[in-house]
Amino acid sequence: MFKRVSASILCLDYNNKEVLIDAINKVEKAGASFIHFDVMDGKFVKNKSFDHNMVNFVKHHTNLLLDVHLMVQEPEKVVDDYISAEADLITIHYEATDNPKAILKKIKDKNILAGLAINPKTPAYKIRDIVNSGLVDVVVVMGVKPGASGQTFIPGMAEKVAEIRNYNHSVYIEIDGGVTEKNVKILRKMGANIIVSSATLFHSKNMKKTIKVLKGNDYVQRLATRFAKNKEQVD
Ligand code: DX5
Ligand code: ZN
Repeated sequence: MFKRVSASILCLDYNNKEVLIDAINKVEKAGASFIHFDVMDGKFVKNKSFDHNMVNFVKHHTNLLLDVHLMVQEPEKVVDDYISAEADLITIHYEATDNPKAILKKIKDKNILAGLAINPKTPAYKIRDIVNSGLVDVVVVMGVKPGASGQTFIPGMAEKVAEIRNYNHSVYIEIDGGVTEKNVKILRKMGANIIVSSATLFHSKNMKKTIKVLKGNDYVQRLATRFAKNKEQVD
């Protein structure tokens, strides 16, 4: 399956709008597919970040898809704000609500991709039924304890990706947190096809090269790139 990179703005000085726009433009040119918004409420996770106003701001400065990761307790209370902000993917945490299915259905009914995130401490089998219910487009496997950029990948999370891939072969699996140019290969091999990156990507001296490494160079990927090039020539 084609691999995509989702660029998380969390490690940037995102309140400085000039810095933010510049970084987003760079990452778009370098080949990212999504901008990843880490929304933190100070309850589900210790830190606070930003809310839907950030999505509303950024969408006017990019053509990339908007990937919203709600690290928020009771996401049902805020999900409408992100639907109105025209997010392309909205992810809620399995651990953050008593009724994940109802929220996922609400998201899907608006023709928005519905994501379900799972914390490192939550075993994969707990989400098996929901993943196979048809209500989940993307499973977000956390590679770190949610709450901050620049943390070290927790061992065992690649195996968790493989376990979830084994439950379901068509769902997207997004790996989020602690991804590096080194560990990404095994993550892709285990079945991850959306790669989130903040520190590795935005601190890179050569974003284009880093995105290439994160996406990998498997057969399908090479074919897709060649196809796009041929199409450009014909057009
Ligand atoms: C962690 C966030 C991640 C984080 C990734 O709580 O959900 O999206 O920003 O950052 P890096 O790639 O620096 O680990
Ligand atoms: Zn995230």
